[in-house]
Amino acid sequence: MTSPLIAIYPGSFDPITFGHLDIIERSCHMFEKLTVAVLKNPNKTALFTVQERIEQITAVTRHITNIEVDFFTGLTVEYAQQKGAKILVRGLRAVSDFEMELQMAHTNKTLNQTIETIFLATSNEHSFLSSSVVKAIAQFGGQVDHLVPVEIAVALRDRLKP
Ligand code: PNS
Repeated sequence: MTSPLIAIYPGSFDPITFGHLDIIERSCHMFEKLTVAVLKNPNKTALFTVQERIEQITAVTRHITNIEVDFFTGLTVEYAQQKGAKILVRGLRAVSDFEMELQMAHTNKTLNQTIETIFLATSNEHSFLSSSVVKAIAQFGGQVDHLVPVEIAVALRDRLKP
């Protein structure tokens, strides 16, 4: 019997955007199970807590069955190993992402040679989109409904209201 093809989609997801959701939906078609793993990073100040981000991702992926939402601390490859996952998924929006992502993939390969990174090209309409862009717009009261699911737009308005 072959083991199930489990993939991990690691990230900050502060907050999840339509770009992330696109990668999640496409990955869930490719793999038997996808774990969306929120990095608990004590060195980075986030707008939403890890628990809030887990709840947000869970809410906006409720239509997907082969998904798990979790958090991790430390190295992604060690987390993947614990989960029995051999694949890390990352989205590539533009050439500007490539350098950093390639460096990360190579670093992860030196840490664990059995784990592969797979890049999915972000859909064209999301190629400019990032959590930072969304936060920058929301901070000044701008519309983000076309960039994030409605639950996230509401959470941003609540968190950033003056
Ligand atoms: O959504 P992000 O912030 O681009 O995600 C970056 C993330 C979480 C994938 C990356 O920072 C990461 O894997 N951090 C965990 C620490 C680690 O494994 N470092 C070694 C690879 S550089």
